[in-house]
Amino acid sequence: MDKRRILFVCLGNICRSPLGEGILRHLADDRGLAHLIETDSAGTGGWHQGDPPDPRSIKTASNHGIDIAPLRGRKVRPADFNAFDLIFAMDRDNLRDLVKMAPHDSSADIHLFMDFVSGERRDVPDPYYGDMSDFEEVYDMLEKGCETLIATLFANK
Ligand code: 4NP
Repeated sequence: MDKRRILFVCLGNICRSPLGEGILRHLADDRGLAHLIETDSAGTGGWHQGDPPDPRSIKTASNHGIDIAPLRGRKVRPADFNAFDLIFAMDRDNLRDLVKMAPHDSSADIHLFMDFVSGERRDVPDPYYGDMSDFEEVYDMLEKGCETLIATLFANK
């Protein structure tokens, strides 16, 4: 079976999408599926290129036994649209921007994350101006969503 290449995208690539990347990688490791999943994250904006995740995302992940401190922010690039099979937007603004950025010949399947994993057209809310409880809420949504994602992708394994 080919590797599934999955990119998480938010606005800054320091709060939500690095958490998604870290959680998916952790679940894949846990379930012996690491060789079948490649994951990364990026932002539609480039203000945090080269920056580590927000300290509140690092802390939230660490509270759940996941280390995302080594990750570094980057902006979505045109090559991503062919390098990844599935691109997940955290919210509807990110989705709209991704669709605009996608080259016309791109093969990527771009979805709103919550829509793909739950059928609900909901955003993973931006926690940047919030507090730790907002980061925990984001973590919960992403963890449940990634569990469903893995179950969906590997239903017959
Ligand atoms: P993220 O959160 O999109 O989940 O990484 C944000 C991070 C930074 C900014 C906005 C949202 N910012 O405006 O710098």
